[in-house]
Amino acid sequence: MNTDSAQKGPKSSPPEREPPGADDPSRRRFRNMLGQFATGVAVITTLDKGGAQLGVTCNSFTSLSLDPPLILWSIANSSLSGPAFTNGKAFAVNVLEASQEDLAMRFAKTGADKFAGVPWHEGLEGVPLLEGCVAYMECRVDARYPGGDHEIILGAVERFVNLALAPLLFHSGEFRHFS
Ligand SMILES: Cc1cc2nc3c(=O)[nH]c(=O)nc-3n(C[C@H](O)[C@H](O)[C@H](O)COP(=O)(O)O)c2cc1C
Repeated sequence: MNTDSAQKGPKSSPPEREPPGADDPSRRRFRNMLGQFATGVAVITTLDKGGAQLGVTCNSFTSLSLDPPLILWSIANSSLSGPAFTNGKAFAVNVLEASQEDLAMRFAKTGADKFAGVPWHEGLEGVPLLEGCVAYMECRVDARYPGGDHEIILGAVERFVNLALAPLLFHSGEFRHFS
């Protein structure tokens, strides 16, 4: 990625829940340092046991394996959506397009009715695919591994779509765009 050409996005700060100790300067310094690693932004979607739509904004996504096709991401132990990602469960990675910062903010709020007014259609097993994204991966949970205050979720990719649009970026705690 050519970060030289990345521009700062609008001045909105993403909402995030802070656990106890969040104001610890050493923790903040560690987090600020990690934020120097620029990423894209995805919304991970699935259904809960009752069939209700769940979605979580995520920048911990990364590719893992080409053969077999595997991806991974991590979910905070505090996330209400975490228990829904059981082994074999269908979920989707919706890679956000440059203009979808509002979706990134909406799906970063815990618990709320995140799908109200959001256009989507059904993918694998009815999992929501958000409209207008850059790429979609339809996956099943392959494995979960503990990772401190997060769990790592491995996804086996069953189908994917690549629309090759300009992506939304995240760097140093702010949304950014390629110029
Ligand atoms: C840019 C950005 C990236 C995020 N990445 C992650 C992530 O990788 N894993 C995670 O658990 N939470 C991440 N979050 C926070 C979650 O989106 C937020 O805690 C989530 O919506 C919790 O929802 P829930 O409690 O309803 O499950 C991120 C938030 C933002 C703004």
